[in-house]
Amino acid sequence: MNSSLSQHVLSGMRPTGKLHLGHLHGVLKNWVKLQHEYRCYFFVADWHALTTEYDNTSVIAQNVWDMVIDWLAVGINPGEAILFVQSKVPEHAELHLLLSMSTPLSWLERIPTYKDQQQKLKNKDLSTYGFLGYPLLQSADILVYKAGLVPVGEDQVAHVEFTRELARRFNHLYGREPDFEEKVNDAIRKMGKKNAKLYKNLRKNYQEQGDDDALSTAQALVEDQHNINMGDKKRLLGYLEGQAKTILIEPEPLLTKTAKMPGLDGQKMSKSYHNTIGLREPPESVEKKIRTMPTDPARVRRTDPGEPEKCPVWQFHQIYSDDDIKNWVQNGCRTAEIGCIDCKQPVIDCIIAELAPIQERAQSYIEEPESVRAILAEGGEQASAAARETLEEVRQVMGLTYR
Ligand code: TRP
Ligand code: SF4
Repeated sequence: MNSSLSQHVLSGMRPTGKLHLGHLHGVLKNWVKLQHEYRCYFFVADWHALTTEYDNTSVIAQNVWDMVIDWLAVGINPGEAILFVQSKVPEHAELHLLLSMSTPLSWLERIPTYKDQQQKLKNKDLSTYGFLGYPLLQSADILVYKAGLVPVGEDQVAHVEFTRELARRFNHLYGREPDFEEKVNDAIRKMGKKNAKLYKNLRKNYQEQGDDDALSTAQALVEDQHNINMGDKKRLLGYLEGQAKTILIEPEPLLTKTAKMPGLDGQKMSKSYHNTIGLREPPESVEKKIRTMPTDPARVRRTDPGEPEKCPVWQFHQIYSDDDIKNWVQNGCRTAEIGCIDCKQPVIDCIIAELAPIQERAQSYIEEPESVRAILAEGGEQASAAARETLEEVRQVMGLTYR
C-alpha cells in the first residue's frame, strides 16, 4: 500500500432492506476484520438509494434503520469504526457538485453499471440526471474522506477506477500552483541534506524506472518529516508522482476474497432472486427454507444416489461444515446411505447457531433505539469533521474562498 496518509478505509451500502447471509459472508465479516486494522468509515448510502427509489421514498428510512442495526448486530463496533448516514454529511453533495463541473459526460456514460442497471431495472425510468451521476456521487463519498482503500465487490471496481481518474484530473486541474516548482525545492531543502538527496534519488528511480518500492519508500520518508508542514508534505508527495500537489487521493479497490454465499437455489444469494436467508430469520423459518431447498434432481427416491457437485446444499456445507461432515456428505450422498433431510440437518444447525447471537444483539438495539441514534450522531460528527476539512481545501484550490 502507498503512504499512511491513504490508510483510510471507506465503504457504503445502499439501504435496500434487511440484510441476509450473503451480506454477512460477502461483506460484513470483512468489515468487522478491517475495523481492527484501519480507520474505517462505513456509511448507509441513502442518497444512492434515491437514484432508483426516487418515486418510492417511504421505505428508505426504515431500511436505513434496519441496516444500521444489522451492522451493529454482526459486530461492527462503533468504538472502532465510524458509522454514519450519507445524507447527514452534506459535504458529499457539495463535492459531488464541484466534481460534476469537470467530469466529462462520456466518462459517466461508459461505466458498465450505467447501461447494465438500466437494462436490468426496465420497470423504472432511470434516464435521470441523478442516476447517470451515481458513480460520481460514489466518488465524492470516497474522495471526501481521502480513503485509500475501498472494500467492494467485483461489480463496483469500475466505480473505484473512475474515482481514481477523477482524483487525477482534479489534482491536475487544481493542484498546480504558479510557484509549485519553487515551493517544492524549498520543501526539499527543509528535509536536510541527507534526506533531500535520498528523496531526489527515490523520485528519479520511480519516475525513470517505475520502481514502486522507491515510491513507497519516498512516501514514507516524506511522512516521517517532522519539521515540514502539511502543505509542503502534499507538495512533496505530489511531486513524486507528477508535477502537481496531491489534493484528492486516488483510492484502490479492496476486493473481498470471501467465498460467494450461495442462495437457496444455488445461484448467488440476492434479494432479487428471492433465495435469501435473512439475518433476522427466525429459526423455524431457517429450518423450513433449508428443508424445502432443491437438491440433486437425480435423487428422486431415497435410494437413488446423488452427486454433491450438482446440489446447492453441498455449497452450504462448503461454507459451514468441517472435513468430517463434508466426507460424510460426499460418501453418503453418492452411495445413498444418507437422505437429503439427514444431509441438511447440520447446515440448519449451523445457520441457526450463527444467527442466534446476531439476533439477540439486534433485539437489544431494537429495544434501545436511543443508543442507535447516539451512535449515528457520533459517527456523523466524526465524518463531518473529516469531510469539512477536505472541502475547505477543495474550495480553496478552486478559488472559492471569498474573504
Ligand atoms: N454503490 C455501492 C453499492 O451499490 C454503494 C456505495 C455508495 C459505495 N457509495 C460508496 C461503496 C462508496 C463503496 C464506496 O454497493
Ligand atoms: Fe444434496 Fe446432500 Fe441430498 Fe446429496 S444428500 S443431493 S448433497 S442434499
